Amino acid sequence: MQTCQILGSGHAVPHRILTNADLEQMVDTSDAWIIERSGIRQRHIAEPGSSLSDLAADAVKQALERAATSADEIDLIIVATVSADMKFPAMACLLQEKIGATKAAAFDISAACAGFIYGLHLAKSLMQTCAYQRVVVVAAEMLSSMVNWTDRNTCVLFGDGAGAVVLGPAEGNSGILSTTIHSDGNHSKLLYNPAGSQHVLTPEDLNNNFATINMQGREVFRHAVASMTAALNEALELAGLSAEDLDFIIPHQANNRIIEAIAKRFKVPPGKLIVNVERFGNTSAASIPIALNEAIQNGTIKKGATVGMTTFGAGLTWAGAVIKI
Ligand SMILES: CC(C)(COP(=O)(O)OP(=O)(O)OC[C@H]1O[C@@H](n2cnc3c(N)ncnc32)[C@H](O)[C@@H]1OP(=O)(O)O)[C@@H](O)C(=O)NCCC(=O)NCCS
Repeated sequence: MQTCQILGSGHAVPHRILTNADLEQMVDTSDAWIIERSGIRQRHIAEPGSSLSDLAADAVKQALERAATSADEIDLIIVATVSADMKFPAMACLLQEKIGATKAAAFDISAACAGFIYGLHLAKSLMQTCAYQRVVVVAAEMLSSMVNWTDRNTCVLFGDGAGAVVLGPAEGNSGILSTTIHSDGNHSKLLYNPAGSQHVLTPEDLNNNFATINMQGREVFRHAVASMTAALNEALELAGLSAEDLDFIIPHQANNRIIEAIAKRFKVPPGKLIVNVERFGNTSAASIPIALNEAIQNGTIKKGATVGMTTFGAGLTWAGAVIKI
C-alpha cells in the first residue's frame, strides 16, 4: 500500500485587516481583554461579496507550483469548509474550474475546525485504495460571513483564510505517518450555526442575526484542551513516536490559552510550538495549513522535520496527525 507525503503547500488570506482597535469601535470590548483571553491582535476579513473559492485557488496555485505539479495532474480535490461560496455545488467543484483541474474528482467535507486533518485522513486512505497520484487538500473558511458582529463573545475570535497542500506518493522518510479523527454529536449545541434546511430563513432572521455562530465559550474551551491532547497522543502512538520525537507541534490556532495548555501537557518548549493566532485569529479549518505553510516558507520547518498537529472544532470533532516533511 502506498503512503503519501506533502509535496507543496500554500496559503492565502484577504488583504483587509480588522484590528482589536477596530473591534473596540464595534462592540463593548477592549484590546487588552481580547489579548489576555485569546492572544489575538488582528484578523484578516474578506470584503463582502468576495469569493472564498478565489482565496482557496490562490493557496492551491502556490502549493501546485511548489510541488512542481500541474493542475491537470490532480486526481482528487478535497475542500474542508463550513463556509463555502454556495450551498451547492460543492466549493471543490468551483475551485476545480478556477484552477483547471480537468480530470479531478472534487468534493467538500464539513468537520469545522478539524476539517484539514479530516481531509488528510481521507486523502491518505483514498490514495491507498484508489492509487491516486496527486491529491489536493484545501481548508478554507470565511467565518466572517456568519459572525454576529454585535456579539462580543464570538466576533473577536474569528478570521478568514485558506491553506492547501498537494499530496503525492511518499519517497524516502517523508510522509504522513499517522492520522486520527473523532466526533461526538452529543455536544453539537456548544458551537453551531442554526441556518439550514430545518429553518427556512425569514427577513426577521436576518435582522435578529439568526444565521450566525452560537458558542458556549467556557465549555468549548474545556473540551478543546482535553480532546486536542487526546488526539495528539493517539496520533503519536499510531506513528510509534513520543512527544520528544517531534520537532514541532502545530495546534489549531483557536486561542493562545488553549495552545498554552496543550504546550504544557506535552512539555513543549516555546521554539517547538508554531503559533500565529495573534495575526490571523481563528481561521477554523484553515488554521493548521496556514501555520504549516508559513513555517515552511519562513524556514522554521525544514525538510526532514517531524511535525505533530492537533485540532478541535464544532461537531464536536477533533483530530490529530504526525507528518514528516
Ligand atoms: C471565548 C473565551 C475567550 C471567553 O473567555 P472566558 O474567560 O471563558 O470568558 P467568559 O465567557 O466566562 O466571560 C467573562 C466575561 O467577559 C465578557 N466578555 C466576553 N467577550 C468579551 C469581549 N470580547 N470583550 C470584553 N468582555 C467580554 C463576558 O460577557 C463575561 O462578562 P460577565 O462576567 O459580566 O458576564 C474563552 O471561553 C474561549 O477561548 N473559549 C474557546 C473558544 C474557541 O476557541 N472557540 C472555537 C473553537 S474551534
